[in-house]
Amino acid sequence: MKITVLGCGAVGQLWLGYLQAKGHTVQGWQRIAEAAPVHFTLQQPSEPDSASGQQRQYQVPCNDPHHLASSDCLLVTLKAGAVAPALLPLLDKLSASCAIVLLHNGMGSLSEPQLAQIQQPLLQGITSHGALRYAPHSVRHTGYGETHLGALNAAGQTRLDAITDVLNAALPPVTAHTDIRPRLWHKLAVNCAINPLTALQQCRNGALLSQQAELQALCGETAAVMNAEGIAVSAEQLLVGVNQVIQATAENFSSMHQDITLQRASEIDYITGYLIRRAQAHGLAVPHHQALYAAIKQLESAHAKR
Ligand code: NAP
Ligand code: PAF
Repeated sequence: MKITVLGCGAVGQLWLGYLQAKGHTVQGWQRIAEAAPVHFTLQQPSEPDSASGQQRQYQVPCNDPHHLASSDCLLVTLKAGAVAPALLPLLDKLSASCAIVLLHNGMGSLSEPQLAQIQQPLLQGITSHGALRYAPHSVRHTGYGETHLGALNAAGQTRLDAITDVLNAALPPVTAHTDIRPRLWHKLAVNCAINPLTALQQCRNGALLSQQAELQALCGETAAVMNAEGIAVSAEQLLVGVNQVIQATAENFSSMHQDITLQRASEIDYITGYLIRRAQAHGLAVPHHQALYAAIKQLESAHAKR
């Protein structure tokens, strides 16, 4: 399959590497129009009995408009806030049948009018694979995870199984869902609990295990919004899920912790911000989430002024 990966960061390089290794004709699409080929070393997670994971070098062409125009799939591995400004100008350069796959944390990266603008098959996914760019041309696959995909429009539904098969053969497991929204919401619930707290407290995920009252309050507010969105879940179920992720990633620094530490814009507007917008639409109060949102935005604007 001919594939363009939009956004050649940690997750983008991970997929570029695994898709090229499967024999697909891939290219990267970077911000800079005259971008040189992306070359990187991909280090796979180490086997339990070996000291370090297998390393492989990749060189992938970039920003070829002919490749873009004839791509069967555009895999969008940008941060949520970059999706609309990067994707919308490319739409009329893609073929009508090119399947666009959004793969980012958070929700609401495209507004309703922007979604309606997209005529191509549109899919959204969520992945729990870990990827870390530890040097300019080096990416480490820090942990195996799983990917879930679903369609966001009717055309996307017709391509869901074929795209799932291609991605699953490259970096399994990838599972297709007839309705991806509950998956996205459950992931959002986890991110809404872990990310802002770890970013504000500058702590590893595991430190949150001792903060059950705060996690419970956040999960209670999230469950009310999810119920209003038609997703049946209790605060207790969300709390169990959040604690499982905290335990499994106890040694990790969350993505928001890393963004705030490095004074980069975080994905708060598409994580807690999205939850707050949906709460407002349903007339629900979410004061705990609102306090975390305000505190992260304050940190971001202090960083922007420096
Ligand atoms: P990342 O390393 O920051 O990569 C994002 C890439 O997008 C950067 O290379 C950036 O380029 C590029 N970009 C920004 N604007 C662009 C534009 N207009 N055109 C083309 N490229 C553009 O982030 P990531 O870690 O890969 O994360 C991507 C998404 O996956 C996020 O939503 C994240 O939360 C999610 N995720 C990440 C992981 C993980 O382990 N890393 C795991 C699960 C989910 P510049 O460097 O030029 O800005
Ligand atoms: O954004 C992140 O860091 C991750 O999605 C998660 C699950 C919170 C683990 O760190």
